[in-house]
Amino acid sequence: MIYIDHMRILISFYSRTGITRKTAKDMGELISTTGYEIDIEEIIDKKDRSGKIGYMVAGKDALAKKETEIGDVRHDPGNYDMVILGTPVWAGTITPAVRTYLHKYGGCIKEAAFFCTHGGGGSSKTFDVMEDILDLPPLAVESFRDKSVKKEGHKGRLNPFLQEILSSKNL
Ligand SMILES: Cc1cc2nc3c(=O)[nH]c(=O)nc-3n(C[C@H](O)[C@H](O)[C@H](O)COP(=O)(O)O)c2cc1C
Repeated sequence: MIYIDHMRILISFYSRTGITRKTAKDMGELISTTGYEIDIEEIIDKKDRSGKIGYMVAGKDALAKKETEIGDVRHDPGNYDMVILGTPVWAGTITPAVRTYLHKYGGCIKEAAFFCTHGGGGSSKTFDVMEDILDLPPLAVESFRDKSVKKEGHKGRLNPFLQEILSSKNL
């Protein structure tokens, strides 16, 4: 019998305006070229975050460490060898949707890596918050500036991020 080790990776992310979605999608495409099994989960925040008011409330909610109602997930993170979690930085921290996802499903995540996108303020405590909730040190972290993602500037940093993840566990 030939045994093929199917390493399964899930990318779970939230995105309000598409920057984190684009980053996740490009990362997924790169991973698929390695032969690993890859699925992508977009976390849906059921709260309306659109417009100026949506923006302001979003910042307030993030600052207050609020959770939110999220849509049903399509992929059980417990079925994957590793989950790559992506969030935009809101008020220096993670988004309510990712906070909710981590609280709801974090317990079954075996290995994790984190990425975030931001508007120039950097990742500050975002990754620490993710690590605290998961109670799991990430295999690798990377942050991407929104402007850079728009100009495809993130692409060159995807491969080193992936290599760091894979080499950390000899995956
Ligand atoms: C409510 C809110 C708060 C934000 N707070 C920060 C911040 O503290 N620091 C920062 O660098 N960018 C901040 N940003 C910018 C976003 O992190 C950035 O544009 C991100 O790439 C957007 O990702 P998305 O398009 O996937 O939603 C904030 C954006 C929003 C909507």
